[in-house]
Amino acid sequence: MVDAASFVEEAVAEIRAAVGDGRAVIALSGGVDSSTAAGLAYRALGDRLVPVYVDTGLMREGETESIRETFDYMESLRVVDAADRFLDALAGVTDPEEKRAVIGEGFIREFERVAREVDADHLVQGTIYPDRIESEGNIKSHHNVGGLPDAVDFEGIVEPVRDLYKDEVREVARELGLESVVSERMPFPGPGLAVRIVGEVTREKVAVARSATTVVEDELAGLEPWQAFAAVLGKATGVKGDNRVHGWVVAVRSVESRDGMTARAQEVPWETLQRIQSRITGENPDVARVVYDVTHKPPATIEYE
Ligand code: XMP
Repeated sequence: MVDAASFVEEAVAEIRAAVGDGRAVIALSGGVDSSTAAGLAYRALGDRLVPVYVDTGLMREGETESIRETFDYMESLRVVDAADRFLDALAGVTDPEEKRAVIGEGFIREFERVAREVDADHLVQGTIYPDRIESEGNIKSHHNVGGLPDAVDFEGIVEPVRDLYKDEVREVARELGLESVVSERMPFPGPGLAVRIVGEVTREKVAVARSATTVVEDELAGLEPWQAFAAVLGKATGVKGDNRVHGWVVAVRSVESRDGMTARAQEVPWETLQRIQSRITGENPDVARVVYDVTHKPPATIEYE
C-alpha cells in the first residue's frame, strides 16, 4: 500500500466501477476488516450500500449493541437475528471444516435474503491478504473465501481490502475516521466463537466461551495482544463442596503477531492469570479448570479449530 489516503481514493473508485449503478450489501462482523470495507463502500455508494450485521449467536458480548452504535450514521443498516438458525444448523457438527462450511453457507443465505429484499446485486467483503493466503494454501477454508457455497446468488463480489495486511487495514480505518475502538480492535474470526469451541457447538458452550472471552479481553487489553480470548476445550473433573464434578476446561490464549500467520504466546504475569481464573470460575459455576496456552504458531494455530 502506498499511502492510506490514495488507497481510499482508489478503493472507492474500484467499488463504484464494480457496482455500477447497482446496490450492494456488506457483511459487517464488528471487526476492523469488515468495518473498513464498509467505510470504503459507504463512501463509494452511500445509501446504495446496505450493511448487514448477522447475529449468528456466535458473537462476542455486546457486539450487536456496539455495531448499532458504531454504524448508526448508516441509515440502511440491517441487523438480522439468526442465532437460532445458526445454532440449530450446527447441532451435531464436530468437524472444524464442516462447522466453517455450515456457518459460511448460513451467512451467504442470510445475505442473499436481505439482498433480494433490498434489490442488491453485489456483495462487499472484508477479506484481507492473509485470509487469501491461508485459504489458498489450504491451511483452512476461511468462511469469507474458501467456504462459500457454490451457488452464490450475486452478480459480483467486491473485496476492497483483499491485498492489505491487518496493520495496513488499521491505517485505512484511521484514514476513514473510524472510531479507535474499531480501528484498534483485536481480530475476531468470521465463524466467531464456533472456532473457540472444540467439538460440537452447543448453546451452553457458547455461553461459557463468550463470558470467559469478555474476562480475558478485559484483563489482557493492557498487554496489547494481537488476540486474547478464551476457548472451551471439553470436560474434566473438579470439586464443588464435598463432591467431584465434571466441568468445562477453559483455555486462555493471548498471542503477539504481525499478521496472524505466525504468532507467539504472550508472557502473562501469574497474578493476572490467577485473576482471570477466579473471574471465569466465579462467573461460570460449570467451569472446573482454566489453563493457559503457551504454544506458539506454529506448531499451534491461534484459534482452536
Ligand atoms: P489461525 O487460527 O488460523 O488464525 O492461526 C489466524 C487468524 O485468522 C483468524 N481466523 C479466521 N478468520 N475465518 C476468519 O475470518 C476463519 O475461519 C478463521 N479462522 C481463524 C484468527 O482469528 C486469527 O486472527
